[in-house]
Amino acid sequence: MNTIEKYKKYVNISMVDKVQPVVIEKAQGATITDVEGKSYIDCFSGIAVVNAGHCNKKVIEAAKAQMDKLVHCCSYVYYAQPTADLAEKLAQITPGRLQKTFFGSGGAEAIEGALRLAKQFTGKTEFIALQTSFHGRSYATLSVTGNSARKKRGGPYMVGCAFLPAPYCYRCFFELEYPKCQLRCARALEDIIRFDTYDNVAAFIAEPILGEGGIITPPDDYFLEIDKILKKRDILFVVDEVQTGFCRTGKMFGIEHYKVEPDIMAMAKGIADGFPLSGFIAREEIADSFKPGDHLSTFGGNPVSCAASLANIEFLAEQNLAEGALRKGEYIKAQLERLSTKHKLIGEVRGKGLMIGIELIRDNQKMPANTESNKIRDFCRDNGLLIGLGGIYGNVIRIQPPLVISQEQMEEVTRILELALSKI
Ligand SMILES: Cc1ncc(COP(=O)(O)O)c(C=O)c1O
Repeated sequence: MNTIEKYKKYVNISMVDKVQPVVIEKAQGATITDVEGKSYIDCFSGIAVVNAGHCNKKVIEAAKAQMDKLVHCCSYVYYAQPTADLAEKLAQITPGRLQKTFFGSGGAEAIEGALRLAKQFTGKTEFIALQTSFHGRSYATLSVTGNSARKKRGGPYMVGCAFLPAPYCYRCFFELEYPKCQLRCARALEDIIRFDTYDNVAAFIAEPILGEGGIITPPDDYFLEIDKILKKRDILFVVDEVQTGFCRTGKMFGIEHYKVEPDIMAMAKGIADGFPLSGFIAREEIADSFKPGDHLSTFGGNPVSCAASLANIEFLAEQNLAEGALRKGEYIKAQLERLSTKHKLIGEVRGKGLMIGIELIRDNQKMPANTESNKIRDFCRDNGLLIGLGGIYGNVIRIQPPLVISQEQMEEVTRILELALSKI
């Protein structure tokens, strides 16, 4: 049996429409090579994970060196140096007063823990999240996910979760226009607290840019308005940086674009360039509200993943990849804007840094073009380009390459996309 046949027989893939028909053998930088030797430019990074590039030499060397010394001890039963070093580094590179990290293995685990900590610190029990958001596949994280497509057949969910209309300007839920709207969607938070909760809200949780929702990019002053309301009501702000972190958006963390200080920040994906690791960091007084027995993770803060993460963060800084992502993102967006004048299928190009969404529409009524987005993905794949899809209607092409993508590769990306648009 070959790999695809074994997957069909032994891997539970019944929960995905299809696995992309590419059997990957190896990858380097922004290039993926399949078992037949065909190469692809990777514009999805294993869902926004390998920001420092596939098999980054510095990261791999750090992980190998750590593997020769210690792979696992449970970093909460015994002390492990890479775990301590990484926690110190995260306190230095995260905004504001965020200081103490709890480590887990995946994004959902980080969000779960962050929510639990918010409850523990505030003594309150409710949460407010955004419609169109995605926070993971565990019970609590699905409970605060604002998209029934992800939640269906899994309910009922946790009580005490209310949802605020998303800052989705292209399809404004209030049918208003920015900036004339005066951020109606942010101001609606007051109404949600008053009418949809029992006024016992521990935290508001949001992604700085809503990734799975379709790279929905809030206006620059959105979180400032939200923050004012949260402060007035003593509600914590939990920022979900799982997808936006580690230079993806052109800053070390996405929330830095919005100039507000979160109380708790969850991170995963790009934290260790592909090694499984996640964490949530909080101000000291918040972090210390966990009491013995409240929380733990067997694999959390794994020494190999932490060593890889430290090397990853060093690499991102040495190569100035935050700045690089901004510059490269501007280049790709300019090319896509050029294409949008020729191809009516492109409704909007948005995003920050190398977190770019292309929303495809069918007519002037902005009918979501989701069949077309699938065809474009297939065409691109057949022509050596891997892209992602997302959006609440499945009609948003996601361009989220490793941040080390070269100019030559970016030119090839736009060439293949243009070809795809002209063939669909
Ligand atoms: C913003 C955000 N939060 C949480 C998660 C869940 O992360 P994981 O799949 O590692 O559990 C994701 C995954 O796509 C995400 O994009």
